[in-house]
Amino acid sequence: MVKTMNHPNSALTAIPNKKGIITKSVKKAAFYLNKGDVVAMPTETVYGLAASIYNENALKKIFEIKERPYFNPLIVHIDSLQSLSKIAVNVPEVAYRLADKFWPGPLTMIFEKHKAISNYITGGKNTIAVRMPNHPLALELIKTVDVPLAAPSANPFGSISPTSAKHVEKYFKSTLEVILDGGSCSKGIESTIIGFKNNEVLVYRLGSLSLEMIESVVGRIKVRKYNQKNPIAPGMLDKHYAPKTPMILCDNPIKTASNLIGKNIGIIAFDKKSLCTDYQIEVLSPNGDLGEAAKNLYAAMHKLDDKGFDLLIAQKFPNVGLGRAINDRLIRACKKDTNFTPNNIFI
Ligand code: TXA
Ligand code: MG
Repeated sequence: MVKTMNHPNSALTAIPNKKGIITKSVKKAAFYLNKGDVVAMPTETVYGLAASIYNENALKKIFEIKERPYFNPLIVHIDSLQSLSKIAVNVPEVAYRLADKFWPGPLTMIFEKHKAISNYITGGKNTIAVRMPNHPLALELIKTVDVPLAAPSANPFGSISPTSAKHVEKYFKSTLEVILDGGSCSKGIESTIIGFKNNEVLVYRLGSLSLEMIESVVGRIKVRKYNQKNPIAPGMLDKHYAPKTPMILCDNPIKTASNLIGKNIGIIAFDKKSLCTDYQIEVLSPNGDLGEAAKNLYAAMHKLDDKGFDLLIAQKFPNVGLGRAINDRLIRACKKDTNFTPNNIFI
């Protein structure tokens, strides 16, 4: 049974402009959210498909649009710490220290859920994932509708995440009414997800906040070993964030490509050391900056995936800082097409 609770703000009077679905108007996005629609919103990590946490019909729509399994829970986005007590209970002290340092920002924390929280959000678990996004339009949108917004990444389940309004439009042109355009995402890889157990911080998903940054606040932390049969966070599924084109990962893509005669190949490389005119190469950061490479990763994957190559070859990144999150996404993007195994790539 689907229960719907519209927020009192739903009587907003904005007149929707039907021309095109990409808009910069927070008011328009708020109008559609308040009438129970799902809208795409920008965050600093990737674009999300947002719905009011109090509207079960809209939450259900998120899963239908994404073709996402219901067991895979959603992240709730808040605009102020005051909202936390309405959605989570028993928040540990260390979480407040982390929030103080990293919110708004690309850190998602998992807490015990408040009893008012829908099972659509938690996938039936008794926990809830929460973050405060660091994007002015996302914060303004949450403030305008005055409810926290549940939002998974705005891509069909398993495919490459979107880092621009155009990427979202490519996927959901005929499904969505509104894509709130906040430009290209400044971080470019999803948030880092952590949880707490017996005063320990556990990492569930690598992401845009490096482990080193988190450790600077809480000391040494553990990365959870992921279990394919019972993934703790389904973003940890083997195959995820994947282009349609087969992709492989190696240390030296140009050398690998030169051995694959007759194949039409696109390359994703780290820095300008890999520049070469024999192939179409997307260099993610000419000067070798991991933050810049993370920001450009998904856009490069979208671009090459749309060009009809036989094969994409990506370069392995240095396994430090954001390089770990980039490697994590590349490994999952390649998974079906290579025998490469993660083998403690995280640590
Ligand atoms: O950067 C991000 O986190 C983006 C933007 C839009 O905020 N969102 C995002 O959402 O990446 P999504 O749905 O693509 O990934 C959320 C991940 C999933 O792997 C899900 O399983 C995990 O968070 N998750 C959500 N709630 C959880 C919970 N209670 N326990 C464990 N994992 C949870
Ligand atoms: Mg996702």
